[in-house]
Amino acid sequence: MIHLRDVTYFYPRATVPALAGLSLDVPAGQFCAVIGANGAGKSTLCYTLAGFVPHFYRGKLTGQVEVAGVDVPAASLAAIAGQVGLVFANPFNQITGARFTVREEIAFGLENLGVPLDEMRARIDDILSFAKLTELAERSPFALSGGQQQRLAIASVLVMRPPLVVLDEPTSQLDPIGSKEVFAVLRDLAATDEATVVLAEQKLEWVAVFADRVIVLHEGRIVADGPPGDVLASGDLTQYGLQPTRYTQAARAALAAGLRRDSAELPVTLEEAVEYFK
Ligand SMILES: Nc1ncnc2c1ncn2[C@@H]1O[C@H](COP(=O)(O)OP(=O)(O)O)[C@@H](O)[C@H]1O
Ligand SMILES: [Mg+2]
Repeated sequence: MIHLRDVTYFYPRATVPALAGLSLDVPAGQFCAVIGANGAGKSTLCYTLAGFVPHFYRGKLTGQVEVAGVDVPAASLAAIAGQVGLVFANPFNQITGARFTVREEIAFGLENLGVPLDEMRARIDDILSFAKLTELAERSPFALSGGQQQRLAIASVLVMRPPLVVLDEPTSQLDPIGSKEVFAVLRDLAATDEATVVLAEQKLEWVAVFADRVIVLHEGRIVADGPPGDVLASGDLTQYGLQPTRYTQAARAALAAGLRRDSAELPVTLEEAVEYFK
């Protein structure tokens, strides 16, 4: 689904590349989390997959960027938009402002695709229910909480059924309750196995629960790549400016204090921690 080969990208006038020789293959159906400190290149990677780099952010891009068989740098933004749906950190940026209700907002993209009316209704009802927005369908998008708005932004992308869904820190602007609501939807999305998802995220406790694969970015390079349990429990995380999950930290503290001596795998989720400390 995603094929990146030796991708290097400089923003205009930048002297340091935001992506530095990055190669990555993601098969269809995989839920892939991209973690990394601020400035690691997560957003730039998201923009590259969605064609914002180099079609909007010009700069200098070299290497191969292929998504769903589309050569992204060579294709038009319209052609890329059919393959990749991008959800931004701030849901407010995603709302068109041209529609009065949540339902109409979700219909916006579909109308341009020429989907028959019956099918459109069915798809919108499905996605409203999936994003837990059914009760809010007739509200104004602007009357929603941040978490509800972000679920609307995600629903507006998912209803188009793009082969690839990219989310750039979708909860970074939300309060804890809003974040939890959004993560519940992402977890359901991960469970469907239908969409291919790339999620840039800093909240590792959540990543640990539902990602199939975790990639660590550092200075525009991939420095770790593997199953969440391996990558998130690795001792290298801190050298890339990342905090291990609180569960891993608790286990390490127990080992350091001599309360545990064995070499059991360190927990990265609450469930694993419960087992670990039994
Ligand atoms: N619009 C821009 N112009 C110039 N440099 C940028 C721009 N956006 C990001 N950068 C730089 O690119 C690097 C990667 O940034 P970014 O992709 O935003 O990282 P992250 O999302 O992981 O925080 C950083 O060094 C950042 O300063
Ligand atoms: Mg970012």
